[in-house]
Amino acid sequence: MDFEPRVYPPVRESQPLSALQEEILELKKQRNAVILAHNYQIEPIQRIADYLGDSLGLAYAAKSAEAEVILFCGVHFMAETAKIVNPGKTVLLPDEAAGCSLSDSCPADKLAAWQEAHPGTYTVAYINCSAAVKARSDLICTSGNAVRMIEKVPAEREILFVPDQNLGAWVARQTGRKMRLWPGSCYAHVMFTARALEKVRRQFPDAPVVAHPECTEAVRDLADEVCSTERMVAFCKDTPSERIIVVTESGMIHRLQKEIPEKTFIAGPTENCACNDCRFMKMNTLEKVRNALRDMGPEITMEEDLRRRAAVPIERMLEWSRS
Ligand code: 13P
Ligand code: SF4
Repeated sequence: MDFEPRVYPPVRESQPLSALQEEILELKKQRNAVILAHNYQIEPIQRIADYLGDSLGLAYAAKSAEAEVILFCGVHFMAETAKIVNPGKTVLLPDEAAGCSLSDSCPADKLAAWQEAHPGTYTVAYINCSAAVKARSDLICTSGNAVRMIEKVPAEREILFVPDQNLGAWVARQTGRKMRLWPGSCYAHVMFTARALEKVRRQFPDAPVVAHPECTEAVRDLADEVCSTERMVAFCKDTPSERIIVVTESGMIHRLQKEIPEKTFIAGPTENCACNDCRFMKMNTLEKVRNALRDMGPEITMEEDLRRRAAVPIERMLEWSRS
């Protein structure tokens, strides 16, 4: 751990779009497409997105999309969610291998076996899971609304929270609600350690720490704010500090620089690296985005019966999240 922290100073000027970005925007028009991108995408993709946000914002944006094609720059479960909430659209994912370690940690057959052994349990699934797991769940949540969603579950029901034990533990502490936690985790967020974070805090004692709830408890306990990627934008805007330590996937810093160009951001370090990339989020490239629009694939498809069952807990979340 002898590397220097990665510091992103204020942004003075923005670069013109590249020929490839222009080509994508032209194809987008021809295909009547909308580009939705997650905050962890590479900066060149973030720049050409029509909507950039967290999982919750993206689910709403997908539901209300009017274009014929949704090009989803994120990971598979996010594009799948877009198809579930807006089935009439063609949903494209630039790289269909862009998965998620959290989603992989909870196979639907294992969840089914657990539920059969524990009848009557209320299953709340973090949106980072497959359509088949969503179809077996009572309610979906994201990091942006997990506390509010858990507060709405009837008090007498026992809750199983899948698949992220870290988000689950954080929500349990916020709400005081006892929950059984599925033993899954995000491989990227658990790489942040308290030791590495303490070291960078000593170097920037004036900088508050904002961390994603997928981090471990030891890291969350050192943070001034624990929240979803979208809420991080508001936190960084509102804090009077000029410098903020951001403990989440490194793409988030591009979103923050776009929204708050005058501030300095310091990437949360791991034991091995000055920042942290999610290898799945980083599978999408500008070339693959162009190819997806040119070839109209890879396309997200699913059986209508599965889609309808998975839609029930997502729609419940979207409705409860508004109130
Ligand atoms: P957000 O919903 O906070 O954007 O998080 C999504 C995610 O995959 C975090 O790793
Ligand atoms: Fe999944 Fe973690 Fe990547 Fe988010 S950062 S998509 S939770 S592997």
